[in-house]
Amino acid sequence: MLADSIRELESGSLARIRAARTLEELEAVRVEVLGRKGTLTLAQKEIGKLAPADRPAFGQILNGAKRDLEAEFDRRKSEFDQAATGARLKGEWLDLTLPAPPPRRGHLHPITRIQRELEELFRSLGFAVLDGPEVEDEYHNFDALNIPAEHPARDMQDTFWLEGGHLLRTHTSPVQVRGMERLGPPLRMIAPGRVFRNESVDASHEHTFYQLEGMMIDRDVSVAHLLYFMKTLLTAIFHREVTVRLRPGYFPFVEPGFELDIQCLICGGTGCAVCKQSGWVELLPCGLVNPNVLRMSAIDPEEWNGFAFGLGLTRLAMMRYGIDDIRHLQGGDLRFLEQF
Ligand code: DAH
Repeated sequence: MLADSIRELESGSLARIRAARTLEELEAVRVEVLGRKGTLTLAQKEIGKLAPADRPAFGQILNGAKRDLEAEFDRRKSEFDQAATGARLKGEWLDLTLPAPPPRRGHLHPITRIQRELEELFRSLGFAVLDGPEVEDEYHNFDALNIPAEHPARDMQDTFWLEGGHLLRTHTSPVQVRGMERLGPPLRMIAPGRVFRNESVDASHEHTFYQLEGMMIDRDVSVAHLLYFMKTLLTAIFHREVTVRLRPGYFPFVEPGFELDIQCLICGGTGCAVCKQSGWVELLPCGLVNPNVLRMSAIDPEEWNGFAFGLGLTRLAMMRYGIDDIRHLQGGDLRFLEQF
């Protein structure tokens, strides 16, 4: 009687093990039948209640059922394991013979491009390309350029002051001074680089932008030399005639000083945000080097003179590429940069 119910349990459980569709279902059957509190395990504990003579036969039936069920369980489990491994291998399969996707190529920033073009142009004209520190001292940024202590350019509004009399250079002009100190006359140099102003940002103002400083010192340098180099520079950059105008301008380090403006290439002179509705863009302040500046760098103004200019590289890039908001240039947005 008891033996029959064990055989029934066995055949029923075998059928369920074979019918299991997932590993979880299979495991559920195992726990229910063979687990610590499983039906077969509990039946084993009943042996003690039988008459001693009946025990061996019943024990044999029980052990046989257990062995058969375990074997069938193991067989199904390895089936599921193999299927899972097969699926994983299929999913992870790599075709190593496929060609690699092409690397994404970057390109130069529009300002870097213009900077390099100008470096090449000026090198071909015999100018050295100099570098200078972005963290400057007051002497090179102001004093040595004949900018007196009470000059508005020294105002806290315009300058990022650092500790110990240092500052972030407000222009590339201090590299003139370093060039004169290091190389002496005759001198032809340019100095491209980043400059910093403590001012509020809008479509045409940034706290960080690029300039290209230039200086030539020799004997009998005149405004005619200055104009020749400035026109050469502008033609090289724009590859076409640009309308310019020269206004007197004041900079403590040049005398006479000029503002060279170009007609706005964004709006063609009718007025827009970049030219502040004036039709003109200040691009090239310049002049003949103030004798005081030469003297402070130990150059005798009786023997030598020269010209200097400070080109707004950032503004030049905006003009050349028709960019109407300076903030794009340092925004780091690839969708913008990829257009150039
Ligand atoms: N350093 C001036 C500025 O940032 C620009 C400048 C003007 C440079 C006249 C020059 C110059 O060399 O001669 O505003």
